[in-house]
Amino acid sequence: MTLLKIARMGHPVLRGTAGLVDDPTAPWVRRLVEDMIETMEDARGTGIAAPQVHQSHRIVVFRVPDERVTEMPGDVAQDLTVLINPVVELVGRERALGWEGCLSVPGLRGVVPRHLRIRYRGTSPEGEVIDRAVEGFHARVVQHECDHLDGILYPQRMTDFRLLVFLEELQRHPIDLTALLNEDGAG
Ligand code: NI
Repeated sequence: MTLLKIARMGHPVLRGTAGLVDDPTAPWVRRLVEDMIETMEDARGTGIAAPQVHQSHRIVVFRVPDERVTEMPGDVAQDLTVLINPVVELVGRERALGWEGCLSVPGLRGVVPRHLRIRYRGTSPEGEVIDRAVEGFHARVVQHECDHLDGILYPQRMTDFRLLVFLEELQRHPIDLTALLNEDGAG
């Protein structure tokens, strides 16, 4: 296994549309996935998409840690999942705001509106179909990772750039999202 170099915002590979994987069970896919997992864990990421390691293929890897999920019934923790050629279906219109970070946008955090509920499908490297309906943080992680396959980074989804901040400053000066949004009358 090999640690891969992570592309940062500004590198054209992050703006492209990644290509479909013809054979999800091909050996090169398995090798790339192993390296993506090692790279993600080394960088302490929640997820990583192949374009972030300069490979423009429709492959994402993520996990949903227990400590991040909300009270919503469909917001379930998830062990390491590999999705090849994922498809995300947005369910309903409801959205939620939440903090996101990205290995390709190091040091920053931003508040991003995301659909609260999604259904996602994809293929595992073993060729099995994965099909899940999820909510909350789990849904957020999948939307973030799959956006990478269409050349979209989370700042492009943001609507309030006051909430794009350095993580170090956020830790020093926590932001109470509810209070801030109520001040605006934005709900
Ligand atoms: Ni990312």
